[in-house]
Formats: sequence, C-alpha cells, structure tokens
Amino acid sequence: MKRILFVCLGNICRSPLAEGVVKAYGDKNNISDLIYCDSAGTAGYHVGAPPDHRSIQIASNHGIELIHRGRKLSKADFTNFDYIIAMDRTNYEDILTLANSSEEKSKLLEFRAFDPEGPGDVPDPYYGSLADFEMVYQLCERNAAPLIKFILNEPI
Ligand code: 4NP
Repeated sequence: MKRILFVCLGNICRSPLAEGVVKAYGDKNNISDLIYCDSAGTAGYHVGAPPDHRSIQIASNHGIELIHRGRKLSKADFTNFDYIIAMDRTNYEDILTLANSSEEKSKLLEFRAFDPEGPGDVPDPYYGSLADFEMVYQLCERNAAPLIKFILNEPI
C-alpha cells in the first residue's frame, strides 16, 4: 500500500479533486488496495471546510463524489505518507521548507512530473470560472495513470 498526499494552497480546489480522480482511477483499475489517497493545503485558510462547490460540481459531472475536509499540511505528513504530490511549483517550494531530511525531500514530486504533454503547474482555479475547474479535472484525469504507474513502479 502506497500512501499518497496531494497538496495545493487552500486544499479546497485542486488537491481534493486530484485525490478524488486518483482514487477513482484506483477503483476503476482494481488497484484500490494498493493506493491510499488524501490531500492537504500549505495554508490553513480552509481547515475543516468541504471542497469548493465548483470542484464538487465538476467531479460530480464526471461521476466522482468528493468527500474531504480541508486540513493543513504538517511535518508529520512526511512520516505518514510515501509520496507528497505538489500541484504547482509554489506548493513544491513551500512543502520543501517542511522536509527535515533528504529522505523526506525525496518523497516530494510535482503532480505533472510525468505528464505526456510535458511538466508544469496545475493552475489555481480559485479566482477563475467553472471552465478553469474543468481544465484542472482534465489535468488530473490525464496524469492519474502515469503518476500511479511511477509510484507502483510500472512502465509509464
Ligand atoms: P487551491 O485553491 O489551492 O487549489 O485549493 C485556492 C483556494 C483558496 C485560496 C487560494 C487558492 N484562498 O486564497 O483562499
């Protein structure tokens, strides 16, 4: 069982969507016993809050129910998880400041590291439109397989 934590800034838009999409990928591919997914934010603005209603709506449009409450990333997450997945470069840099050792640093990856269309950020849709949330969904959908294959040490 690999424990995977998706991390964005607020933990209400991107990372809960990534968590839901990757969980759904695991269910569809009968590997849900091999991966455990959770999400957190580098900021604590939305601790205890449900995901943004637009993330919930877009996920629901694609048959995925998001069940999560916002929480802030902590140093303990580096012990409790095998992989910490940053949704963008700023998240990556912020997460890095919490890592205590090279082993902890090596758990950190960018979400789009294996994107067939090339690496980059998952853009923050918070101040955007529903179309921006759909774009985040599409990025999650496209990256679920290569990311999980890497984590499970399978050919990408
Ligand atoms: P997220 O989006 O990092 O994808 O959850 C944001 C959510 C909230 C805020 C910023 C980004 N905020 O400033 O409250």
